[in-house]
Amino acid sequence: MPSVVEHYETVLAGYYSWLFGGLESKIEENRKFFTVHNIKPLRSGVAVDLGCGSGFQSIPLAQLGFRVIAVDLSPTLLAELSAHRGDLHIEPVQDDLAQFSHYLQGPAELCVCMGDTLTHLDSRETIAALFQQVAEHLDHGGTFALTFRDLSFELTGLDRFLPLRSEPTRIFTCYLEYEPEYVKVHDLLYEHVDNQWHLNKSFYRKCRIPFAWAKETLLQSGFELQLATLEKGLITIIAHKQ
Ligand SMILES: C[S@@+](CC[C@H](N)C(=O)[O-])C[C@H]1O[C@@H](n2cnc3c(N)ncnc32)[C@H](O)[C@@H]1O
Repeated sequence: MPSVVEHYETVLAGYYSWLFGGLESKIEENRKFFTVHNIKPLRSGVAVDLGCGSGFQSIPLAQLGFRVIAVDLSPTLLAELSAHRGDLHIEPVQDDLAQFSHYLQGPAELCVCMGDTLTHLDSRETIAALFQQVAEHLDHGGTFALTFRDLSFELTGLDRFLPLRSEPTRIFTCYLEYEPEYVKVHDLLYEHVDNQWHLNKSFYRKCRIPFAWAKETLLQSGFELQLATLEKGLITIIAHKQ
């Protein structure tokens, strides 16, 4: 099975921002999210973005005044972030997100793991260990913001084929295969080049994280929950270190 980083570099990373409607619109969407939820620098101003991708959260957080440590495994997505960060305080780090604490000088006041990064981790044990680690490295009252897909509901039959985005020379389709604790995500990218369609394909596994389990595990890790919603298949949690 391809690793997450192999999957991103083979088929996803070069098209990631395009798939989601472009970097600018995602920066704006996340800027609104942070503003609505009153997420702004109050103390050290240090924020950690776990699985930052091309910067959908890192860039608006830095625009709001945070100094952002942006961790991701994908060199392609980190290069895109670097190309767009201008003179904002963003430190791109190519590493596993579990290593984030090595890049901190002291406690952070914010940690975000958004846009479905959490489901990329290999097991619930790894996720629970990450929650513990985040709790250890946030200051008192520090905020942990998470968004990820609710994969508990199973699509069946032809509904497992999802047309994600297309334009005249490019078609991106996804096919889902359900396992008890994981969903196998097959990404298929067709591109029309030199009068021919070329297919690029790869798959990876996403972890099915039950909403109730995530909330309970955060509470056990020493967080209190400010917000925990499940809307249109998206789980959003904002938690504070007690
Ligand atoms: C679905 S994208 C989310 C990117 C961005 N946060 C967003 O909102 O779109 C998941 C990102 O997590 C990264 N990633 C997955 N597993 C990782 C790990 N163990 N360590 C660091 N980055 C990881 C991937 O390379 C990818 O950029």
